[in-house]
Amino acid sequence: MERTVQIFDTTLRDGEQTPGVHLTAEHKVAIATRLEAFGVATIEAGFPASSPGDEAAVDRVAATVRRCEVAALARCVPGDIEAAARALERARRPVAHVFLGTSDVHLQTKLRMSRADALRAIRASVRAAASRFPVVQFSAEDASRTERPFLRQCMATAVEAGAVRINLPDTVGAMTPAEYGALIADAVAFVGPDIIVSAHCHNDMGLATANAVAAVQGGARQVEGTINGIGERAGNSAIEEVGVVLALKHIARTGLHLDHITALSAHVADITGVPIQPNRAVVGANAFAHSSGIHQDGILKQPENYEFVPPALVGASGHRFVLTARSGRNAIAHEARQLGFELSADGIQAVYGAFVAAADAAQGPVSVEELRAIIAEVCGSDRPAAETPAPPRSRRSMADMFCL
Ligand code: KIV
Ligand code: ZN
Repeated sequence: MERTVQIFDTTLRDGEQTPGVHLTAEHKVAIATRLEAFGVATIEAGFPASSPGDEAAVDRVAATVRRCEVAALARCVPGDIEAAARALERARRPVAHVFLGTSDVHLQTKLRMSRADALRAIRASVRAAASRFPVVQFSAEDASRTERPFLRQCMATAVEAGAVRINLPDTVGAMTPAEYGALIADAVAFVGPDIIVSAHCHNDMGLATANAVAAVQGGARQVEGTINGIGERAGNSAIEEVGVVLALKHIARTGLHLDHITALSAHVADITGVPIQPNRAVVGANAFAHSSGIHQDGILKQPENYEFVPPALVGASGHRFVLTARSGRNAIAHEARQLGFELSADGIQAVYGAFVAAADAAQGPVSVEELRAIIAEVCGSDRPAAETPAPPRSRRSMADMFCL
């Protein structure tokens, strides 16, 4: 039986930390509404102590979202927990997300705290949060670079103080999937079945999605991430990628409606102004585009030849062919058919020859309009055969020979 994993979306908090991005309350509400329909379990709406505007934005999301949990981030300082409590007052299912850097580098150089101070701060802050919130998650920031015995002390302190979820961020994307999976498995065994262990991965070495999947395989019951993988520096695990991997590889159920992905991704790109790179997995413009003749021919015969992720699974309209000098006869005949031209074998050969000459000379792909013009020139007709009255057999024209 497949396990269930809950998805904690932090597009509105860690995703908003993408350099150059600022989301207004209206933006956050618009994205949150779609995230709820997508089926995430938790929406981290922001960091209320960071600005009055963000406190107001988290409040607006909390008042709008009804089904999923709404979380707010807080450092281990009383003012942050107060701000989170104010912002989540109207939430139906509020979650306090309390964090502290626990690695030596964070404690010594950023926080200038001893380990004993850190444990005291975790205890006091998680207790304060637990007195005001039904659910408290504690994150050991930079967990992946925290000395393991001290990390266990931090987890034990947080759980004893009332945390029911322990998140172990790979804050600087420092781990490989094998390392992160082992870190999570160790934590799962340490905290026991009553505590949810959560994964939160960054993409500094391009491993954020792989690490999140390894975490689930190691026993994580919650995965954090963002739509389109946006976030600090190289970003976070992309929820659309994690959702697709967990589903297609039958690793775990997420409750996500994967067919919302294409529209949701475009919406987030539009609102944040962070464009999606064309070759991005699942949501890039080229994710279901085929350029080489061998691939186009394979797709026409059976899409599985060159598509592991079915476009319909993620709500994409289908595959598309890009016409370049690498395209083949079969694709050209197919595109011609799409334009309404049924070409004979000689016609295909003639159009293909003219197309390749044009494609070799072109700077980029040949557009559909250019292909139409090529067919019209070769066939001597700019209208699809179906619309062209058949000339008498005694007057055989080019169109007669090439267009059936
Ligand atoms: O990357 C990180 O460590 C974080 C924490 C604040 C959860 O985003
Ligand atoms: Zn993060």
